[in-house]
Amino acid sequence: MAHQTEMTPALLDYVRGASLREDDVLSELREETSGLPGGESLQVMAEEGQLLALLVRLVGARSVLEIGTFTGYSTLCMARALPPGGKVTTCDITDRWAEIGAPHWKRAGVEDRIELRVGDAAETLSDLAGKQGPGVFDMVFIDADKKNYPVYYERSFPLVRTGGLIVVDNTLFSGRVADGDARDPDTEAIRELNEALHRDERVDLSLVPMADGITLVRKR
Ligand SMILES: C[S@@+](CC[C@H](N)C(=O)[O-])C[C@H]1O[C@@H](n2cnc3c(N)ncnc32)[C@H](O)[C@@H]1O
Repeated sequence: MAHQTEMTPALLDYVRGASLREDDVLSELREETSGLPGGESLQVMAEEGQLLALLVRLVGARSVLEIGTFTGYSTLCMARALPPGGKVTTCDITDRWAEIGAPHWKRAGVEDRIELRVGDAAETLSDLAGKQGPGVFDMVFIDADKKNYPVYYERSFPLVRTGGLIVVDNTLFSGRVADGDARDPDTEAIRELNEALHRDERVDLSLVPMADGITLVRKR
């Protein structure tokens, strides 16, 4: 019978050896970020970054919206996968961390494809809706503060074109979503979004149990 293969450290090593293509530009940003407090856990895993790049290409994206920049590892993965002239608009409440990523974006030759929007992402999304109108993005990646995930989904939804993709990170939240005793606001917000996505007839979806849970949502 088909079953979910358990991801052991040995198997993860195998997965990385068999498929990861993290080059020097990415690994140097990863290493620099790992030196920050909490840095290693905040940035996406290398294989998730590679998946994001693949998704950008599969969707044929030219315009990507990211909610949660941090030091910009995921930003860099997506920007490099765009065609010339493509753009990642990336939102964070502070530019403190993006300043660390910016030299790496430059070294990769994609800094002109990245626009950082500093401020509360809920407000940035409303601003983008007012100024840019509906359906302007091919792909959205949600990876900021968890308690606002339902807001980020609803506000980014109109900004994505039909057939476009919304990628939601941390939808397993270290397994807390399945722990009935976990009642903190972050876990509750992720559960709320997971349940809303399951019911949402406007989309096709798959909750991929990779990394910390990655939900792929295609706008019908
Ligand atoms: C998990 S990290 C993003 C990691 C990033 N995607 C990467 O791979 O390196 C979450 C980011 O969300 C930002 N953030 C937290 N609250 C926010 C808010 N209300 N609006 C915008 N960004 C916020 C934090 O400053 C942090 O940089």
